[in-house]
This record gives sequence, C-alpha cells and structure tokens, in this order.
Amino acid sequence: MFKKLFSYIIPLNIFKQKSAISQTLEVTWADGELVLDSKNTNYSYGSLQRILRKGLKFIGFEKIKTMDRILVLGVAGGSIIKTLVDEIHFEGKITGVEIDKSIIEIANEYFHINQIQNLEIVIDDAFEFVLKTKDRYDLIIIDVFQDVRMPNFLFEKFFIDRICYLLNPKGFILFNTMMLNDNQKQLNLDFFNAFDASKYTVTKLHKIEELNELIVIESKF
Ligand SMILES: C[S@@+](CC[C@H](N)C(=O)[O-])C[C@H]1O[C@@H](n2cnc3c(N)ncnc32)[C@H](O)[C@@H]1O
Repeated sequence: MFKKLFSYIIPLNIFKQKSAISQTLEVTWADGELVLDSKNTNYSYGSLQRILRKGLKFIGFEKIKTMDRILVLGVAGGSIIKTLVDEIHFEGKITGVEIDKSIIEIANEYFHINQIQNLEIVIDDAFEFVLKTKDRYDLIIIDVFQDVRMPNFLFEKFFIDRICYLLNPKGFILFNTMMLNDNQKQLNLDFFNAFDASKYTVTKLHKIEELNELIVIESKF
C-alpha cells in the first residue's frame, strides 16, 4: 500500500531482469498502478492499456461481449486480457500467444493472469502459431513488439492473408503499431492498403498516444 501511494510522487521499481527479446523487463509502481516496461517503452498496463482499450471501445464492448473466441498475439503482462475479462466481462475463450516464457512468469506473479479461467497461454512465435492453428477467431489482437521494434513478418502479405483466413465472418483485427520514423509510417500505409476494400473496412485510429497508431480491420462478410 505504501509503495502504491509513494508511486504518485516518484515511480518505484520493484523488479528488473535482462531479456533477450525486450532488452530489460521491469515491474514498476507508477501513479498508483503496477506497470510492466521493456527497456525503452511501456509494455503492459498504464498508457498501453489505455491505448488498446480505445481500440476495443471503437469495436464496441457490447459486440465483443457476444464473441466466442479471441486471439491475442503478444501477451506480456496481459493488460488487454484484463480489460476483456474485468471491464467487458468477456466469457468466451481467449488464446494468448507469447514468445517469451519469462514474461509470462512475471505476468503470473505480479498480474495474476494465471487466475483467468477462460485464458489459454501458448508459448510460441506468433508467426509460427498462426501458421499452425486450426481454430478461427472473432477478434484477433496483434500487439507484438521486441522493445520498440515490430518484427518484419507482421507487415508481410503472407502473414496478413493468414490472419484474414483465421477470421470468422464479420470478425475484427486490432493492430497496435508504433510510428517512430518514416519507414514505419510507410509500413503502416502498406499494411492499411493491403486489405481488399470490397471485403474489409479498415480504420486508422490516429495519435492515440504520441507515437501509437491503431488499425482496426472489420470483415464485411
Ligand atoms: C507490448 S507487449 C504486449 C502487451 C499486451 N498485449 C498487453 O495488453 O499487455 C509486446 C509483447 O510481444 C511479445 N513478442 C515479441 N515478439 C513476438 C513473437 N514473434 N511472437 C509472440 N510474441 C512476441 C513480447 O515478448 C512482448 O511480451
């Protein structure tokens, strides 16, 4: 309780470890909230959770509540999963895919995501997982970062075609991106244009926070 109150004055780091994928992983009390950060960015809870919540609001909490299956690529501390379960009261099945086993251990210890009944965690590369899975999803959330870097496969046509294939009719994709430079802006533009307008409605939610851009794709059929 003291740490939480003190964190309104100054952030209080309570855990730190090196990470091959994210450089460092840090759990910190900041403004009365426990957050998970990589070396150069906020990974879970705090501003990241607020950004993703806006994407979910755009899709509609009521609509999400009626869905059966949600896929989350990139779990970290599981903040969007907490929004789905605690705020939206989503009761269908959530599959979370995360490449880094150690981040799931942190998520379990500090954010208790192992207590979420309708969550299945798969330790795998998101690209490998989407190739292998035989399931279909009503909502696919893509939030895959290695510190501030987004892996190239996210922007390749093969991956985009595959996630579209995994989407149920009238399904949604929520894609969190960070625009740090002109190259990233171009990748986002190419991603945006990769969808056939006769089949998908694509919306950019601009400047959610300083550097983030959310892209929401809705399947028309
Ligand atoms: C911004 S965090 C995800 C935050 C999370 N969605 C939330 O709501 O709290 C990005 C995550 O992507 C994971 N990641 C990076 N590359 C990956 C890959 N190829 N496959 C799966 N996960 C990956 C990182 O380990 C990190 O946990």
